[in-house]
Amino acid sequence: MKSLAKLFDNNVQWAIDTEKQEPGFFKSLSEQQNPEYLWIGCADSRVPANEIVGLKPGELFVHRNVANSVVHTDLNCLSVIQYAVDVLKVKHIIVTGHYGCGGVQAAMNNAKLGLIDNWLRHIKDIQYKHKHYLKSIDDLAIREDRLTEINVIEQVMNVSQISIVQDAWARGQELQLHSWIYGVNDGKLKDLGTNITGTHDAVITYQQAIEKLMRN
Ligand code: CO
Repeated sequence: MKSLAKLFDNNVQWAIDTEKQEPGFFKSLSEQQNPEYLWIGCADSRVPANEIVGLKPGELFVHRNVANSVVHTDLNCLSVIQYAVDVLKVKHIIVTGHYGCGGVQAAMNNAKLGLIDNWLRHIKDIQYKHKHYLKSIDDLAIREDRLTEINVIEQVMNVSQISIVQDAWARGQELQLHSWIYGVNDGKLKDLGTNITGTHDAVITYQQAIEKLMRN
């Protein structure tokens, strides 16, 4: 169990360092959280939300699952979004995918990995929806990258159609949706250009983002 003891050692050191850098940090955090952003990202260990965008504990509300999916009936994800929007009143929801996503690869390759295959059906549905475009790309690595990008844009579209988000816009709450993608090979984030600000621009922004991607 040595490896786990190491984690506790790391934790003690982190808590000491953090408190040293910012005295009273944990006390003020324990009283409230006030994040402006909800991050919906992949569970991949190489894509740690806070580190990538340089935000401290308390600044980013996070939901992660395999292949950063937003499924309309996923109570877990819906509950995170509802709490973030209705209670925390986040200003931005950012769906972040990443190149080299094992979930996207497994879906593309029809891998048989177990229960996860069912979850990845959602990615396969997206692959099917855009099959003509994807099949036109001969280079399989590029095809995988494009599907990974399309997946993020589709998931943002899903966020925009959730009743919680629609209701927030209907009552005039400020809430923007974004699609980002992260390069595990260079540590850089890229904006895929779906800055959705309300019901009025959701569909057109989605369409423009997909068309732009397909032109490249
Ligand atoms: Co992934």
